[in-house]
Amino acid sequence: MNDPDRAIIERFGRHISPSFVRLLGVLGYGRVFTRAEDVWLWDSKGRRYLDALAGFGSANLGHNPPALFEAIRAHLSRDLPGILHVGPSSSAAVLGEALSALTGDALDVSMLALSGAEAVDSAMKLARAATGRRGFVSCEGGYHGLDLGVLSIMGTGRIRAPFEPLLEHCARVRFGDIDALDAALRKHKPAAFVIEPVMAEGGAEIPAPGYLAAAKSLCQKSGAVLVFDEVQTGLGRTGRMFAHQREGVVPDVLVLGKALGAGLVPMSAALTSRALHERAFGTMDRFDLHGSTYAGYALGCAVAVEVIARTQNQALLDNARDRGASLRDKLRARVGSHPMVRDVRGDGLLVAVELGAKPDTLLRRLTAAAVDAVSEKVLGQWLCVRLLEHNVVAQPATQKWNVLKLTPPLTITEAAVDTLVESVGAILDAYPDPVRVLRDAAVRVTEQWRAKGAFR
Ligand SMILES: Cc1ncc(COP(=O)(O)O)c(C=O)c1O
Repeated sequence: MNDPDRAIIERFGRHISPSFVRLLGVLGYGRVFTRAEDVWLWDSKGRRYLDALAGFGSANLGHNPPALFEAIRAHLSRDLPGILHVGPSSSAAVLGEALSALTGDALDVSMLALSGAEAVDSAMKLARAATGRRGFVSCEGGYHGLDLGVLSIMGTGRIRAPFEPLLEHCARVRFGDIDALDAALRKHKPAAFVIEPVMAEGGAEIPAPGYLAAAKSLCQKSGAVLVFDEVQTGLGRTGRMFAHQREGVVPDVLVLGKALGAGLVPMSAALTSRALHERAFGTMDRFDLHGSTYAGYALGCAVAVEVIARTQNQALLDNARDRGASLRDKLRARVGSHPMVRDVRGDGLLVAVELGAKPDTLLRRLTAAAVDAVSEKVLGQWLCVRLLEHNVVAQPATQKWNVLKLTPPLTITEAAVDTLVESVGAILDAYPDPVRVLRDAAVRVTEQWRAKGAFR
């Protein structure tokens, strides 16, 4: 390892996150990435990697898109005030109008924020303030961020537990189960039902056709605000501007983040209707019930406006739809019959390969419990380390570790799709059953422990 790398690792480990650096070492993720362009990343040794993670779906336009740099330079040359809370900001006004236009002006007021969690949190506050109710219903396996408010609606107990007690009156229902939602809305009479139209970190789960429309009518009947969290699926990821356009269901609140800042600046927004916003924050003594210093900062707004304009390019959306379909088809053909591949699914360029023994195979009947335990804890992370060795960056779904989630930039080419498929295929070819994977993973982890988690 060269000295600049060592200096970065030591400083990061000492001053930012010691446990993260240890984990990277133990798992075998020892790389320092130094350059990014479009769908490619480079490490300090000059090795090039295909990025199938894209900052967890942030770099939809590719890394460091030149058009955004031009927009940033043009914005900076205007010497506008960066943060302005004593008058209307022209940058925020332009962004608000552009966001509203994306929804056909159905959701014409935007609450601007910096992170996805913050924007979902603002949607929750809006729902409480507008309805006067307290509770929330969300989905098992759903992911909405890690701040204290949104943790209350987190779908995974492991991540909630250390921070409890969280908000009271929060209930979870099975994703896509309309009867369970009906029962929960009747029982809890919540302020809002918060759902991802495609559950991203929960493993790229897509609800059955008709579910979102039925959920909307149940929410309307119950008086609950319907919040679609499209922090990960929004802005072209699914080949449509928004995942919910699959069914043409307009929510009461639409939350965007990640790609809105293009991986360059933090930007997020909760879009809602003027009527709902009025109910929550409409009077002068309520205007300051929500906000933050950097909300609507000028540079972020300028980047987001440019992101929206670039994402409205139909060729980009078509590329996301077509390359996504091709990625799924080619993965199914290449690894679909592998004994450890249970499913290949997704929507646009949010693609999942679910790993684990197939149901009803002899292997499964003989070793069901052991295989499930291995799948859940090891398989996804093991495959991602192996992919890194094949010069591909990817991660498992954070709430379902046996699911490999592929979310490359929307600019990916068919040749890069082929590279991705071939990398997954070549790795799985060498490991025809979970026992060999377990053995390989155990050997690797033991070696790394012996090396005291050396970053390599
Ligand atoms: C659907 C969804 N909502 C909210 C968030 C939280 O966003 P952030 O990490 O910017 O707070 C994420 C992050 O992965 C997400 O996928």
